[in-house]
Amino acid sequence: LIIVLDFGGQYNQLIARRVRECNVYAEVHPYTLPLEKIKEMNPKGIIFTGGPNSVYKDDSPSCSKEIFELGIPILGICYGSQLMAHLLGGKVSTAPVSEYGRTEVEVDKTSKLFADVNDKTICWMSHTDYIAEVPEGFKKTAYTPVCPVAAMENAEKKLYATQFHPEVMHTEEGMKMLRAFVMDVCQCAGDWKMDSFVKDTIESLRAKIGDGKVLCALSGGVDSSVAAVLLSKAIGKQLTCVFVDHGLLRKSEGDEVEAVFGPDGPYDLNFIRVNAQDRFYSKLAGVTEPETKRKIIGEEFIRVFEEEAKKIGAVDFLVQGTIYPDVIESGLDKSAVIKSHHNVGGLPDYVDFKEIVEPLRLLFKDEVRKAGLELGIPEYLVFRQPFPGPGLGIRIIGEVTAEKVKIVQDADAIYREEIAKAGLDRSLGQYFAALTNMRSVGCMGDFRTYDYAVALRAVNTTDFMTADCSEIPFEVLQKVMNRIINEVKGVNRVMYDLTSKPPGTIEFE
Ligand code: XMP
Repeated sequence: LIIVLDFGGQYNQLIARRVRECNVYAEVHPYTLPLEKIKEMNPKGIIFTGGPNSVYKDDSPSCSKEIFELGIPILGICYGSQLMAHLLGGKVSTAPVSEYGRTEVEVDKTSKLFADVNDKTICWMSHTDYIAEVPEGFKKTAYTPVCPVAAMENAEKKLYATQFHPEVMHTEEGMKMLRAFVMDVCQCAGDWKMDSFVKDTIESLRAKIGDGKVLCALSGGVDSSVAAVLLSKAIGKQLTCVFVDHGLLRKSEGDEVEAVFGPDGPYDLNFIRVNAQDRFYSKLAGVTEPETKRKIIGEEFIRVFEEEAKKIGAVDFLVQGTIYPDVIESGLDKSAVIKSHHNVGGLPDYVDFKEIVEPLRLLFKDEVRKAGLELGIPEYLVFRQPFPGPGLGIRIIGEVTAEKVKIVQDADAIYREEIAKAGLDRSLGQYFAALTNMRSVGCMGDFRTYDYAVALRAVNTTDFMTADCSEIPFEVLQKVMNRIINEVKGVNRVMYDLTSKPPGTIEFE
């Protein structure tokens, strides 16, 4: 185990993730973690993260100096490096020249940290303070023209520090440095794998929950599915999953979720499917304003879930499929509301539970997928593209009706089938069909038609904050157009949406 002590840096989980990429388990804890607790956890190494403060101010995050006497190797990064210097008697002050971004750093290759690194290597800097004098017993091991201590170490005491950020991608050889720290300095075995996460999480869930009752809102998305399976493996039928089918899912999706999690599926749990289609359609009747639609769907979802929860009665735990990016976004998200996001994980007001469990809180999406495969969850669920909580409700412009849902489900199923046939399904960020509210004139056979236009969308994106329209081969688009017009009643026109985000959004509402 490597403990990452968080001093408020932006990259705290990224550090843990990079360590896990070296097949060494890492956990992030706040800098206030007591020394006694650290000793109990018996880590092979500790990493101090960066942070926005100045170490010499009185109210800045700090830790006990005794931590350096435990004999546990420590790597300080950015603020963490300055804290190490400050607490051990070095001098930290405002740098005459701040450094931000790509910086060429010259390293001392006799340092264990830099043994495999080029003499001059590109690192990512972001600092206004710097270490002006190293503490006694330390030597400088890297520098730039304006930063005399870009790295320092006391190899005898196994204390290392870098002013730059080895964990970010822009530090070209950062992984080598982190690997050198965890493998050569901390002497970790490097045999941790996702199956260890799965095994350890199941054990710790079992210990935490005991014979308590657990309730989970299952959407069929990858996060809630992986969370549900972990809990099922830990506590079996003490877990009840409620799956609300709001009638706005993709074609056959409700049945697919039931096939995996229902009584005929492989998992040991109680599964309740609530078929609430009509209830949602009647609430949505006549409503056209996008935000109103979103609010109705979100609220109705919570009401349905609460009603089911009431039938079950008091539970001890409520499961949330929160993953790490959700944690950062909800912490930092102070931007304007473009859309009121509805997540199936949204907290209901009246469910009687004592505590929340979030078994995936420390994982990134691709790590959740790895855990899902490890748990034997079918690939089509594990690699499912993101699907918004309000579902097809926001892919039907204007009023939602059962008839329109059917049209968009059928068109979307054809589109997905052809994209998969063309081998494009894993390379596109997100792709789907939407139903525009436009009807236009066409001719089919020798008859006039006046039918809906379907819009196809496909975007390349990794973070879903910005996106570009994907270049789908024309023959694939034409095949999809042909099939939709021939096979889906009520559609006589198909369009391809070229808009990027911004100015567009990925979804239509
Ligand atoms: P937009 O349309 O805002 O979408 O560009 C960005 C990403 O978020 C998904 N999305 C949602 N996901 N609840 C969700 O869980 C929502 O209410 C919601 N709205 C949009 C969208 O599918 C895309 O991946």
